Amino acid sequence: MGPFAPDLLKDKVVLVTGGATGLGRAMGEKFLELGARLAIASRREDVLRQASGEMSREGNEVFYKSCDVRDAAQVQEMVEAVEQHFGRIDVLVNNAAGNFISPTERLSPRAVDAVLNIVLHGTFYTTLEVGKRWIAQGRHGTMLNIVTTYASSGSGSGFVVPSAAAKAGVLALTRSLAVEWAQYGIRQVAIAPGPFPTDGAWSRLSPTPELERKMLGRVPLGRVGDKDELAHLAAYLISDYAGYINGEVVTIDGGEWLQGAGQFNDLLEVTEQQWDTLAEITRKGK
Ligand code: HXC
Ligand code: NAP
Repeated sequence: MGPFAPDLLKDKVVLVTGGATGLGRAMGEKFLELGARLAIASRREDVLRQASGEMSREGNEVFYKSCDVRDAAQVQEMVEAVEQHFGRIDVLVNNAAGNFISPTERLSPRAVDAVLNIVLHGTFYTTLEVGKRWIAQGRHGTMLNIVTTYASSGSGSGFVVPSAAAKAGVLALTRSLAVEWAQYGIRQVAIAPGPFPTDGAWSRLSPTPELERKMLGRVPLGRVGDKDELAHLAAYLISDYAGYINGEVVTIDGGEWLQGAGQFNDLLEVTEQQWDTLAEITRKGK
């Protein structure tokens, strides 16, 4: 049982890029459970076919179309195919992404492009293709962009620099269009997830047990996220109940981001005994 009525998303047509794996798939499954009709798109057709087979329910087939979001022509074909199939699109979830850890000076221009083209250009192409159609059709809709906590202004992250630059761009796109396209009834929202163990992210970002332990150590709640927690948030944000939320990014990270932000948060490691000594020293400062 979840927190929502089973018809929260009844008959909404939702397109999720990267919807066959990881967080995209978890969101898609939740949307279906709540009555949505779902289309998924990504590069690998075999992965899409299998996911669609596993996710489809009687009378509610998951539509899929292979598409490389780096190619605007493929994006146009994919969006056209989804519209043809369902007659319309109500929600676009820009979830497809590419990322890996690397010292920046080791990156080739092609490696930089690999990430920027998927995350920034890909998100822009799908946004543009769907947005133009909604405006021409006079149709209201919602766009949900999956970003990262290091995309926010005043943030950033070493060792994933193409991703940080691209996701910051996606966040700027979200906030800019929230203003420009509100006049057409198009709403923009974003989610910034902390660590959620998916095969795609873990294999590229947390590839050894030691790095995984380090990642966990940074989360005040002491655990990784559960895909269901993210899927519930996404379901709410694309639902009509979130109709007045526009241009907002919601962080779901167990407090990880704030842990890094506070200058004194490392003091969590100080023991009770050390605090007794420190208290004596600091009181003398009176
Ligand atoms: C250095 C690398 C590299 C690596 C690829 N390259 N991986 N360089 N370190 N680990 C370089 C290659 O050598 C090549 O450059 C260029 O990048 C393109 O590589 P291809 O393999 O041809 O690229 P492509 O097949 O297009 O694959 C794109 C990809 C790949 C981004 C590199 O990892 C991918 O398909 N990712 C999709 C799924 C994904 O990344 N999921 C994780 C999302 S998690 P040269 O010059 O040699 O030709 C996320 C959230 C993070 O985003 C936040 C966590 C808390
Ligand atoms: P994932 O399973 O690897 O998801 C990435 C998806 O994007 C895959 O389905 C992939 O499918 C698709 N994709 C990649 N390149 C594409 C392209 N050029 N065209 C079309 N589709 C493409 O990883 P995930 O962890 O679920 O990530 C999902 C989202 O959450 C991403 O936006 C990621 O940045 C974000 N996020 C995740 C975490 C985390 O901890 N997991 C944290 C912060 C943010 P194909 O390879 O078949 O194309």
